[in-house]
Amino acid sequence: MKRIKIEGGKNLTGTVKISGAKNSVVALIPAAILCDEKVEIHNIPNISDIDALDEILRFIGAKIEKNNDTLIIDASDINNIEIPENISKKLRASYYFMSALLGKYKKVDMYFPGGCNIGKRPIDQTLKAFRALGATIIEDNNKYSIRAEKLVGAEINLDMPSVGATVNAIYASVRAEGTTVINNAAREPEINNIVEFLNKMGAKIEGAGTGTIKIEGVNYLKSASIVSIPDRIEAGTYVIIGALLAENLRIENIIPEHIQTLLDKLEEANVDFKVYNNYIIVNKSNNLKPITVETKGYPGFATDLQQPLTALLTQCDGVSYLTETIYENRFKNVEYLNKMGSNITINDRTIKIEGKTLLHGCEVTATDLRAGACMVIAGLIAEGTTTINEINHVLRGYENIIQKLTLVGAKIEEEEI
Ligand code: EPU
Repeated sequence: MKRIKIEGGKNLTGTVKISGAKNSVVALIPAAILCDEKVEIHNIPNISDIDALDEILRFIGAKIEKNNDTLIIDASDINNIEIPENISKKLRASYYFMSALLGKYKKVDMYFPGGCNIGKRPIDQTLKAFRALGATIIEDNNKYSIRAEKLVGAEINLDMPSVGATVNAIYASVRAEGTTVINNAAREPEINNIVEFLNKMGAKIEGAGTGTIKIEGVNYLKSASIVSIPDRIEAGTYVIIGALLAENLRIENIIPEHIQTLLDKLEEANVDFKVYNNYIIVNKSNNLKPITVETKGYPGFATDLQQPLTALLTQCDGVSYLTETIYENRFKNVEYLNKMGSNITINDRTIKIEGKTLLHGCEVTATDLRAGACMVIAGLIAEGTTTINEINHVLRGYENIIQKLTLVGAKIEEEEI
């Protein structure tokens, strides 16, 4: 078990380089299964979610080479065997193997995926897509046995623009017979990255980034390489940190457009930042204004930035409101922020943050990935020392967070307990 200790109140200056996007890479890796030849994926972050996917690939016999931040995967000759529950439950993205194996072999046996405990997170839309394409599914105690004599293109109407269901519908249909149309598809930038990769392999997919994605099935996918887009959630997290503590902090290797909604809200909150082509310079502002935020699918305000933003809202002068519309249980950070001195009340899906409050260091817990990021930010601004338990959640999604923060002047260290 790991925990971190932060001595708060240090000003931060220098450069933070943003890594490849977790939520892109965790989908790009399983796409290797669909390919009939070798693939190369660049800009892979060193985070534990990638290790879990690596374990699945090795389990089914894929050949993997690692070269700095590049993965070369040859999954042309694997064993399509049942993936054990203890591996699939390590992360949400394990179920991208469900659709990739089904798409390639018309057969898969796998368990319900894992992921942060932030809501019920059912997979009904993914299963609906598989059925629409002609698969039959037997569900027994969390295990799914999915079979199709053949997969045939179909119209798939998603009930909500689910990222996971959109990716799974694409993977299951990319080698199907005929045309598939996904209506109400997710529009997150990670979907564009994934579609770019498949199209480089020879897939015929149009409409990524819009609510309607059209896929003409193909029967062979050739070797291709792809560079992951930068992690927009990591970028947003560091911009928020900068807004609280920076003296000319440069956050680079980003696509500013991917965090436009966050930037709009930060501007409203009076944060001092300037946007350049692929970097942002941010300075701390002592006069932060309260704001009202509601999470939405892209291009709306990202749910994954909601908890990091809450730490900033405790420092705004006045009452802010934040409404979470995507997940039912994504306010676990509030208990710990209040323990540190904030004044936040939860009312169903909305929290009311009364600021500005002085935060003081104490012992807190990272209950999930983004709650953990929130606690790191709170620790950085708090008076005294903050100890954050269960930091493994944070290490699932933020590459070298301790080193990156130390490099710009934070006092933060990891402890094994
Ligand atoms: N939903 C259903 N049924 C489904 C699918 C989704 O009811 O079949 C609901 C979910 O319960 C949720 C909403 O729809 O309330 C949106 O879920 P979505 O499927 O879009 O989320 P996801 O694919 O499971 C990905 C990211 C999350 C991110 C969301 C939303 C990955 C591996 N995970 O999850 O990332 O919050 O999209 O943008 O890409 C994180 O990085 O901290 C994280 C949780």
